[in-house]
Amino acid sequence: MAMLELTDDLRIGHPVIDADHQRLIEIINEFLEHSKAADNSQVLHETLKSLLAYGRDHFSREERIQRQCLYPLQPGHFHEHKALLDQVREIARAYFIAKTKPLNESSVLEVNELLKAWLIGHVKKFDTGMRDWVAPPKDPDAAPEKLASHDLAALVIDSDAARRGRLADLLTGLGAARVLQAEDGIKGLAMAFGDPVPDFIICDLEAEPLDGSALAGALRGSNKAYIARIPLLLLSDTDDADLIQKVMEAGATGLYPKAFNPKNLGRLLNHLVKG
Ligand SMILES: [Fe+2]
Ligand SMILES: [Fe+2]
Repeated sequence: MAMLELTDDLRIGHPVIDADHQRLIEIINEFLEHSKAADNSQVLHETLKSLLAYGRDHFSREERIQRQCLYPLQPGHFHEHKALLDQVREIARAYFIAKTKPLNESSVLEVNELLKAWLIGHVKKFDTGMRDWVAPPKDPDAAPEKLASHDLAALVIDSDAARRGRLADLLTGLGAARVLQAEDGIKGLAMAFGDPVPDFIICDLEAEPLDGSALAGALRGSNKAYIARIPLLLLSDTDDADLIQKVMEAGATGLYPKAFNPKNLGRLLNHLVKG
């Protein structure tokens, strides 16, 4: 059976992500190697345990890098990661708890094929799509991308007046035609339903008294399709996995650090508003 290898077509170009993928490949290869000599049941148990633990760590590292790099397709990727961990749990359940699958020589082959497809399938279909966002820029001195459309209205919601002002200036500099500002979530929500309807919203996740998740819920729950699909970018430095899950499930377009790299904002907005 062929061992897995981190070939060039699987490399993302970000050292942390590539090193993590290399380690995940090693865990799968070690399974194949050790299952020849040792008790299959023990080797499979250890492999699934390592994949779950390392997979969880890797996914949260990769998602943090996506947030820092203003990657635009966070929610879909987040849900894929969650589904991958569920798949490993399901394999473990089938072999060790429900015992609906027998553990014999052919199961090593079957699980190995499954794990190869599990990892490589995700890297090829999802992770390679991040390359242009997370790998170092080809030309670091290139001018930041401006907004492609000249008639966009932005809405910024943040109780910190200085930060709100800086963000408004940044958006005006990128070419936003109008920048609406709200100092709290309630006023922001009213503006989102007002005139002009903003083309995108940037909101502090910890906005009071209505936070970013609640705002996401209110927008996505609107019966007006043009409101329900407004891109909502939430700003927060949180690493709290439960909170991030809540934000993603509420329908945020993405979560970004408060001190994000402004160079990538125009590119991100062009991607979101065009879509
Ligand atoms: Fe991924
Ligand atoms: Fe990955």
